[in-house]
Amino acid sequence: MTTSSATSAREGVASGAGGRHNPRVERDSVIGVVGATGAVGQVALGLLRERGYRNVRAFATARSAGTELNGLTVEEATPDALSAGDLDLCLFSIGTAASRELVPHAIRGGAIAVDKSSAYRLQDGIPLVVPEVNGKRALEHDGIVANPNCSTIPLTCVLKPLRDAAGLARVRVSTYQAASGAGSERMERLRAQDPAEGDLEMDWEFDGEEFDEEAKVRAETRKILELPALPVSATCVRVPVLVGHAESVWIETAEPLSPEQARRLLAAAPDVRVEDFPTPRTAAGEDDVLVSRIRADRAAEGSGIVLFLACDNLRKGAALNAIQIAELLFARRPVTA
Ligand SMILES: NC(=O)c1ccc[n+]([C@@H]2O[C@H](COP(=O)([O-])OP(=O)(O)OC[C@H]3O[C@@H](n4cnc5c(N)ncnc54)[C@H](OP(=O)(O)O)[C@@H]3O)[C@@H](O)[C@H]2O)c1
Repeated sequence: MTTSSATSAREGVASGAGGRHNPRVERDSVIGVVGATGAVGQVALGLLRERGYRNVRAFATARSAGTELNGLTVEEATPDALSAGDLDLCLFSIGTAASRELVPHAIRGGAIAVDKSSAYRLQDGIPLVVPEVNGKRALEHDGIVANPNCSTIPLTCVLKPLRDAAGLARVRVSTYQAASGAGSERMERLRAQDPAEGDLEMDWEFDGEEFDEEAKVRAETRKILELPALPVSATCVRVPVLVGHAESVWIETAEPLSPEQARRLLAAAPDVRVEDFPTPRTAAGEDDVLVSRIRADRAAEGSGIVLFLACDNLRKGAALNAIQIAELLFARRPVTA
């Protein structure tokens, strides 16, 4: 790409459909991490530092304001602070109700918001993005890009290459989700717990049939893959593990697909790594989605594949995915999906 076409691509990307948001180019951009003291926010600060971002500001509640974190003084995320007009991009990880309240102020100040809560994920017109899967959609933003659920992100990373090759007929998934998926307080509870007391939990909102986490996995997977009628059935379970979500996935493809073909497709997929027997512990601290046990589904009548995946829920499941979205918007990385 020539300098001028790179510049115009960056301007086109950064402006989004509405053209109201014009952040400075990436190296000069001021990035606000809102929820910086949380499980996801702290990982986001570390990743931004590793990736060379220097103009980072940390925001949280009044409780944390004034404390030091990664060499930054935490500021209170007030509407005035977020709308003052000096932030180019904000990475929000503060929960759904707080995001509904604060994201609009950041947008008003001209920042682009990448929001990790479920506040905007299913809203029409707001892109829900996994860069490796539907990165181009990020470019359609009008101020907000939503970051999917920590179980949906790795699931769509493995479904995408299989869908592209053979179509998808049906997906079933069972999750094994780490305590950190429920935030830093939950991590502290697990650390303080006697391991002999460890148990499986289902700690999401229950509608009498499904947990909201299960409905989120289905709805978000459909939106990201742009397959609104895809049958998806999820069973979500919290396990006594600190970091790293795992999933067993049963995939029926529309066209025949052998396990060998699936393995080849997954090995070539971006940010997916085929490994022997990954676990949450081996995935923790890694950027890739680790996939293993790719085999024929002996219970499927047609073309069925079973696999097991593990992924760091705080990195690719949350902070890293959001930063990758930001980098698409800054045109730092080419958009391939
Ligand atoms: N954990 C994951 O694996 C994961 C994955 C994907 C998405 N998410 C989403 O990310 C969000 C945060 O998750 P987390 O796990 O990082 O939670 P967490 O550890 O509980 O941290 C919450 C953070 O939000 C801040 N906060 C809460 N209410 C706020 C408000 N009204 N104004 C400003 N800051 C506020 C807290 O600040 P104080 O420290 O000052 O209270 C803290 O920094 C949630 O929406 C969650 O669904 C999490």
